[in-house]
Amino acid sequence: MSQTAQIETISTQQRAELRSLAEAAAQHSYSPYSHFRVGAALLLEDGSIVTGCNVENCSYRLTSCAEQGAIARAVAEHGPGIRLRAVAVANLNGAASMPCGACRQTLTEFGDDQTLILYPGENGAPEETTLGDLLPHAFRLEYLA
Ligand code: THU
Repeated sequence: MSQTAQIETISTQQRAELRSLAEAAAQHSYSPYSHFRVGAALLLEDGSIVTGCNVENCSYRLTSCAEQGAIARAVAEHGPGIRLRAVAVANLNGAASMPCGACRQTLTEFGDDQTLILYPGENGAPEETTLGDLLPHAFRLEYLA
């Protein structure tokens, strides 16, 4: 299926639901250092939705992003074969936020160039793109074979 065709199978209603679940997950954010409350919602190939939030640590580098928490939870709940159709990111700070560089690589492990990414742009306006556009020429599992 072409990139456009695959993305079009995710309805406007599903996109809105994913954004809203990501926002709900951000309510659980543990972010006493940055106060940047982030949530993520993953739409898996089987239609399941799994959420996560950022969890910070006083040893700052141990902070886990919302996307990473959601991926760990999705693998724990659904197994290592999960595939990502879409990922929504939200924050409660009214700020723009797309997946950081590390999260793009983490998402690439379970997604592909067509995976839809929903995120808040400037002033919190809803924006969307694809994982392929966020991380072109990504390092992939198949290169290790
Ligand atoms: N953060 C995420 O959860 N996801 C991202 O993709 C970008 C950053 C979190 C990490 C940290 O807790 C806070 O946002 C500020 O960087």
